[in-house]
Amino acid sequence: MHVLPVASGKGGVGKSLFVANLGIALGQAGKRVILADLDLGGSNLHLVLGERRPGKGIGFFLNESGGNLKDYVQNTQYENVFFIPGDSEIPGMANLSATQKRKLTNQLTSLDTDYLIMDLGAGSSFNTIDFFLLSGAGTLVTTPTPTALVNGYVFLKNTLFRMLHSACPKSSPGGKLLQKLEKQSANMQRVYMMDLLKEIQEVDPKSYQNYMDMIKKFHPRLVLNMLEDPKDADKAYKLRRSCQQYLGIDLEHLGVMYRDELQDTALSSGLPILVYKPRSVLSQAVFRIADKYIQFELEEDQHSILPEADYGDDSFETAEMEAQLDFQSKIEYLEELLQTGALTMGDLMETVKTQQYEIQQLKKEAALYKSKVVRAMQQGFIG
Ligand SMILES: Nc1ncnc2c1ncn2[C@@H]1O[C@H](COP(=O)(O)OP(=O)(O)OP(=O)(O)O)[C@@H](O)[C@H]1O
Ligand SMILES: [Mg+2]
Repeated sequence: MHVLPVASGKGGVGKSLFVANLGIALGQAGKRVILADLDLGGSNLHLVLGERRPGKGIGFFLNESGGNLKDYVQNTQYENVFFIPGDSEIPGMANLSATQKRKLTNQLTSLDTDYLIMDLGAGSSFNTIDFFLLSGAGTLVTTPTPTALVNGYVFLKNTLFRMLHSACPKSSPGGKLLQKLEKQSANMQRVYMMDLLKEIQEVDPKSYQNYMDMIKKFHPRLVLNMLEDPKDADKAYKLRRSCQQYLGIDLEHLGVMYRDELQDTALSSGLPILVYKPRSVLSQAVFRIADKYIQFELEEDQHSILPEADYGDDSFETAEMEAQLDFQSKIEYLEELLQTGALTMGDLMETVKTQQYEIQQLKKEAALYKSKVVRAMQQGFIG
């Protein structure tokens, strides 16, 4: 089974949209897929799937004694796609007890399926991070806005802290160092990860080695959503550089998804965009990402035979090229609408005008965020 956790630092960046449509794409490719809504307290994956009345879900399962998660797996209207609802009345992940978490993870990982895709709540609660770490290659969704990028970075940093904690037993020198640090600084975000690692390596080589063994298996993947312009694709490089420089990890770029107005209509008609407009640029981007997951699957199979397999091409360069191609497709689509008379020149001018206004507003907002981020960086918040 391939476990695909999908997380984000900031809310509203498109996790649920991505999870639902990716599931449908993999289902169409003949894979059996279970989508699990682990955004407890804020579950809405059913809406993106067009299921108005989800039955009992994970929240109910957690609160019954015993129980079998298999009984909560529902059919969807989509081929090969199954669904486990969340339960919005149940408080968020932050409130799960250790026993509940164990019960849930044991049963999730023993479900019978090709893919288990988990829609996690936004943010870095301990439980969310632990679900993210059920795979070494969880997917982080972000948009190109400065807040979403910083929050995405912070999510990864918190995930590394969690790994570090688990690598350093409480009574080990490394464990004691972490406890001391936590007492001293209320905000662990200010701790410079690479320095901390150096220190742990000196005082506690054994725990350091534990951590390095974990890091070797940690290859988070990135999806950059809601692009407006091919230039937005550059933001992924910035995130990658911060991760390399300050966290000592590299990301794999799965690809970009442009903002698509058709999504609003798809959502209000209760249809995932992949079904509503399979040929839209957004749907095509999801299909392309689904193909990459399937490719990883093939590579994993090859791994056992060819452990030294060479991953020549750079996922970031590929994603940047795809961003340019998608933009081209968007323009071609507009041209087509003009030619077929579905859109008049007047409509187009009107749209361009409103977009210019929105872009100006966004630029102002971006300048404000930028100054905030610079300030945060100066205060050592990032890194
Ligand atoms: N590429 C896109 N183009 C247009 N609209 C989008 C796109 N991606 C997401 N949206 C819209 O943005 C909103 C937020 O998306 P979604 O609910 O998937 O985010 P989320 O990360 O799951 O949010 P939450 O953290 O609240 O669970 C939704 O209305 C969705 O339809
Ligand atoms: Mg969501």
